Amino acid sequence: MTDLVTDPLTALATAFPRDFAFGAATAAYQIEGAVSTDGRTPSIWDVFSAEPGRVHDGDTGEVACDHYNRVPSDVSLMRDLGLSTYRFSVAWPRIQPGGSGPANAAGLAFYDRLVDTLLENGIAPWATLYHWDLPIELEHAGGWPVRDTAYRFAEYAGIVAEALGDRLHGLITLNEPWCSAFLGYGNGVHAPGRRDGAAALAASHHLLLGHGLASESVRAAAPSVPFGITVNLYPTAPAVPPTYDGPDRPAYDDAVRRIEGLSNRWFLDPLFGRGYPADVVEDVRATSALEFVRDGDTDIIAAPLDFLGVNYYTRHVVAPSAYPGSSGVEFLSRGLPVTAMGWEVDPDGLYDIVRWVHETYPAVPIYLTENGSAYDDVVDVDGRVHDPERLAYLRDHLAATSRLISDGVDVRGYFAWSLMDNFEWAYGYEKRFGLVHVDYETQRRTPKDSAVWYAALLEAHRSGA
Ligand code: NOJ
Repeated sequence: MTDLVTDPLTALATAFPRDFAFGAATAAYQIEGAVSTDGRTPSIWDVFSAEPGRVHDGDTGEVACDHYNRVPSDVSLMRDLGLSTYRFSVAWPRIQPGGSGPANAAGLAFYDRLVDTLLENGIAPWATLYHWDLPIELEHAGGWPVRDTAYRFAEYAGIVAEALGDRLHGLITLNEPWCSAFLGYGNGVHAPGRRDGAAALAASHHLLLGHGLASESVRAAAPSVPFGITVNLYPTAPAVPPTYDGPDRPAYDDAVRRIEGLSNRWFLDPLFGRGYPADVVEDVRATSALEFVRDGDTDIIAAPLDFLGVNYYTRHVVAPSAYPGSSGVEFLSRGLPVTAMGWEVDPDGLYDIVRWVHETYPAVPIYLTENGSAYDDVVDVDGRVHDPERLAYLRDHLAATSRLISDGVDVRGYFAWSLMDNFEWAYGYEKRFGLVHVDYETQRRTPKDSAVWYAALLEAHRSGA
């Protein structure tokens, strides 16, 4: 028997149940390229990234990692890493070019091949239906701020579930609706680049409504596929010690409440049948009276979930602010080490937020559908990519995950973000989140040291050493 004291990797591996899902995640626009192939039409991200000044260096997803043309070798890479599961997203404009109408057989065939190749390699496929690539025609018709988009989404969801549902191991409706709503329509740093607080709130509602409506179309087409949604959650702390009792202490506590309210409870409360949180409704009243919420909507949104997907990257640390344009809150750092995104590395935050979900909402299996870090990686003279910070990030967040499990929280899987370097939205190709390095000139893939470590962990887990 291996000495668990001297072999921390084995100790970590054996802390996870035998059927724990270890995977990696990607998203269609971030890796596929081939934006005009087999009938695909533009999404909001094609249009947004083509507008000068929107994306770092004018980068676009036109070629990205060319994954569309490299499924066999990319899946071999996943198999070599020993992944038991892989989370990808389906590009809506490949399935319904133009955003409506019958399914495009060539578009569906791509995901069909991907799913079959994964299964042939012993990897369980998980699909996300919406990872931010809304067909541009639907944006021209008003986008997520209009109600009809929710119904269009449910129709598209049914098409995908019908085609792939017999082989999927998990189906996620939306990825991070907070980002789609507030970055896409609120501050405009993501596609479609609108800056309108009321539109952002309407978008958040119609995204959730779309999720609820999709539960009907998906369950009808694929009743046995585990069905869920992925939200990005942020534990939120005041920028003062817990014992601080200055006169502005209530203002700090209120800053925390506002931020975690809009980031976390705004989505989770309605998903778990509690409707929108009254305090946040009050916070946003000056921006919107939420007149778009109709009778019955909150029941639709509260459709039963088979699992909740949680994406975690960092903790928010906040303080009250009188600065114009700050909405009364500013974000600070505590001086912890940061990733290339400037996000503080805080594995305890993963523990805290998932534990909070477990204690606050009805019991539901939880999957960590994304967690990872960007660093300025380079291929070394030895041909390898040495990324000790990413390796430590991965190890420490997995250790936090194992603590959750030993403390009785029902966490069933972990998907590293990301399988490979890719198009990091407004940051373009500048930020590298991959376990595998991508040379965009040659499309050469090089597993980084973190990938080698992850493969060893998964091997130790599989062999039950
Ligand atoms: C969350 C998003 O789902 C993903 O697309 C993005 O690349 C990562 N966060 C890193 O920012």
